[in-house]
Amino acid sequence: MSKSISGFSKLSKSKKIDWIVDTYFVNKEDAKNILKQYWNSNEKLQQLHDEFIENTISNYYLPLGVAPNFLINNKLYTIPMAIEESSVVAAASKAAKFWLDRGGFKTKVISTEKIGQVHFMYHGNFENLQRFFEKVKPQLIGETKSITKNMEKRGGGILKIELRDKTNEIKGYYQLHATFETVDAMGANFINSCLEQFANTFKKEAEKYDAFGPDENIQIVMSILSNYVPNCLVRAEVSCPVEDLNEDSTISGRDFAQKFIQAVKIAEVEPYRAVTHNKGIMNGIDAVVLATGNDFRAVEAGVHAYAARNGIYSSLTHAKIDYGIFKFWIEIPLALGTIGGLTSLHPLVKLSLELLHKPSAKELMQIVAVAGLAQNFAALRSLITTGIQEGHMKMHLMNILNQFNVNEHEKSILIEHFKVNIVTHSAVTDALKKLRVKSE
Ligand code: MEV
Repeated sequence: MSKSISGFSKLSKSKKIDWIVDTYFVNKEDAKNILKQYWNSNEKLQQLHDEFIENTISNYYLPLGVAPNFLINNKLYTIPMAIEESSVVAAASKAAKFWLDRGGFKTKVISTEKIGQVHFMYHGNFENLQRFFEKVKPQLIGETKSITKNMEKRGGGILKIELRDKTNEIKGYYQLHATFETVDAMGANFINSCLEQFANTFKKEAEKYDAFGPDENIQIVMSILSNYVPNCLVRAEVSCPVEDLNEDSTISGRDFAQKFIQAVKIAEVEPYRAVTHNKGIMNGIDAVVLATGNDFRAVEAGVHAYAARNGIYSSLTHAKIDYGIFKFWIEIPLALGTIGGLTSLHPLVKLSLELLHKPSAKELMQIVAVAGLAQNFAALRSLITTGIQEGHMKMHLMNILNQFNVNEHEKSILIEHFKVNIVTHSAVTDALKKLRVKSE
């Protein structure tokens, strides 16, 4: 049984590693070497990464790939993607090229509002609370001035504070429900600081408010932003005449469009399919969100909540034929930042943003939505024609070959062999064994 430890966070990095290795590993030297292999020899860079989180013992690498040829509102982009899953970058690139020849992607930011809430309990008279809220509202805003000053200079700030009665859900439960504009910042710190200040002011003023009776006190439960941002919405769309979808002679443009629309409709009504459909969309979205230093967990949570907003989990994309024109689009909530957070700290994030022509948060929302739409297009296109395993297995083969440390000669023979044979782990093992026996 492993042992517990106190004061771990205070140990030096090498002492932390010693403890980990001694406690959990049989081959201690091997474990230490793996951790060391992933350190960066540039001490400053390593220190930067060490300090992103606590108890860092090494770095965890993900490949950073790029998908070129994305034409978005008539501007060309090469999109950076940080992701471990094979085929995602290749699929994005293929979809980008397909739509490059058909007018590219058209995008639009619909709204940019973010939400934060102070959750509190109050068991007194509601009218009394309402009167108190109206009286204290200017002060709630006023006492956040030192926090909002810079944001206001950039065109953002607090847009609205409402008192919300939630007593139908929980006895005595109310909210200060606030709306914010955070411009190019994702805004989590800004929003949370404002909310904590609202809570302090609200509580302090309530204690002095004469019209409250002795039992009419306010208990703050918590103050936190919401990652559900249905009013921070972006839309991306592709369209072309149905007959232009005919790239592959095995299926006509019309049949392709009809089958494609059926596949989307299935994801609109069938949650089991919708989750996988949307997962494919998130393959593209998360990869760009991660490459640009944004919080993919926040994006995931918000997007999936949006997908279930009508009470049934449904597709994030939609498709139709309108007077002979095939249209395929996505509408999703995305709270992203291009300043603050990791964006100025992580060298690869800075590089990714520069690659994207240093976008504003609004521009990044559009690029990310496009990555999601492109990914979904590529997945559906494979699913309704060849199936996805063909493409997946090609990449999977490379992963298996790398596991076996094959040399270049073996690699080229095995790639040829598996052009006509089905890739499975055991099939590759057998083929490699035979090849090695032959060449002995
Ligand atoms: C795999 O990561 C994603 C897909 O399953 C998405 C889909 O089914 O639409 C291919």
